[in-house]
Amino acid sequence: MKIVHVASELFPYVKTGGLADAVGALSTTLADLGHEVTVFVPGYRAVVDHPMAAGAKRTLRLRIEMGDVFMSGDVLSFSPRPNLTICLVCREEFFDRRSPYGTPERDYEDNHHRFIFFCKGVVETLRFLELRADVVHGHDWQCGLLPVLLRHAEQRHGATLAMKTVFSIHNIAFQGVFPMRSFYRTNLPDELMGIDGVEFYGQMSMMKAGILFADRVMTVSPRYAREIQTPEFGCGLEGVIGTRADDIVGLINGIDTNVWNPATDALIPANFTAKDLAGKAACRADLLKRVNFDPKFAGPVIGVVCRLTEQKGLDLVLANEAFFRANDVRLIVLGTGDKRLEEELRKLAAALPGRVALCARHDEAMSHLVEAGSDFFLMPSRFEPCGLNQMYSQAYGTVPLVSRVGGLADTVIDLDASPETGTGILFPPTAKGVAEGLARAAALHAEPARFKAAQIRGMQRDFSWMTAARAYERLYNDAI
Ligand code: ADP
Ligand code: GLC
Repeated sequence: MKIVHVASELFPYVKTGGLADAVGALSTTLADLGHEVTVFVPGYRAVVDHPMAAGAKRTLRLRIEMGDVFMSGDVLSFSPRPNLTICLVCREEFFDRRSPYGTPERDYEDNHHRFIFFCKGVVETLRFLELRADVVHGHDWQCGLLPVLLRHAEQRHGATLAMKTVFSIHNIAFQGVFPMRSFYRTNLPDELMGIDGVEFYGQMSMMKAGILFADRVMTVSPRYAREIQTPEFGCGLEGVIGTRADDIVGLINGIDTNVWNPATDALIPANFTAKDLAGKAACRADLLKRVNFDPKFAGPVIGVVCRLTEQKGLDLVLANEAFFRANDVRLIVLGTGDKRLEEELRKLAAALPGRVALCARHDEAMSHLVEAGSDFFLMPSRFEPCGLNQMYSQAYGTVPLVSRVGGLADTVIDLDASPETGTGILFPPTAKGVAEGLARAAALHAEPARFKAAQIRGMQRDFSWMTAARAYERLYNDAI
């Protein structure tokens, strides 16, 4: 198949979260399976300057209609491996910036213009290069307008650009809602400004456009696909999603086993396998040393790696300060984001020196060390569309402690519910739930045989993208 992915992040070029990992690994795997894959991503400074993009060539000059003006841009492209082409939609004014969406304080004020331009740039490229895709698959609100812009361009120019469009929801909490006055930049017909179009409480919702106008809508776990049809998780779009209930599926992400494999990982000090965990002990000692803890500490080491946001539930960990005071455990948090959460975590680390550490930065290598060196990985998310770290954890023999929501519930098997097959500990996303989870973890760690069996079962599970990508193939074939 000719498959086109369109996303605002792509590993290893630009990443703020799991979206980059998911799109990067999915597109690579589909290319390896023999499909002809093109991935569009904005030409952010980080991507254009990336060493792997050094050979990028200008493929097209763009002239994009944005309301009553035309804006120019370029499409650069390069091919990092057979069957895979990466296209960068560039316009310095929009994308030559330090980060994809904003400063630490706030989102860029022109994000709607940036991503309308991006989607239109993709459509124009498909048209001029006559790519004739079987599937055009957009990810998250930044690509929400893509399906309707694409069909509109087809009508306007009498061309076929794609057989089918697919839209993936990676996180319904981010919806791309902007003042309706920016709708004119889309050059779409006025009737789409209404309730059967992009209108959402008087504003324009790009996420809603994706859900309504794509041929297929999907998300990243079966449980999240059900959750977002309820008011508790739907963030106001549950009704809209309900109108697509027959089309919406949840496919679990895979993990990129070229990047996340303890047997070959070059970012950790020692490699290991389910058969020989000696290297894991070395990683553990190194991790403890790295944050100035005693490397010989024998009790439970709990790792956290995440964006510091409400979603990830770190306030529920903070509410359990008493546990970390009363129990001889170590907690190592790698994360940046919300400054208030960062401050609270810093205070906890200062109150419990030698026990709690915060590494407030984005650090790819450190994230591998935390996964490899911890005994437990804590992920008390309030909601989690899929989540990747709980899968990385299992692959690295690190027992996940996760809330029973979304993809976490779909990928971790609870040790109490299934003692023979369990790989982790699940709890409700509340402070009390986290307390229960931590207590269960401490008890498990005190039983070395049971703990090791859980580690090994986790390591033996198949979370590879090869398996996950087959499900996408079926979805595409079915849609076509
Ligand atoms: P989300 O996309 O909601 O942030 P996921 O679990 O899908 O959650 O993916 C998060 C990804 O981002 C993982 O690959 C994780 O290792 C990475 N990550 C998050 N915070 C950091 C950080 N501070 N340093 C390095 N990697 C991080
Ligand atoms: C989003 C979700 C996360 C998911 C990732 C990749 O960022 O928050 O749960 O794993 O997308 O699909």
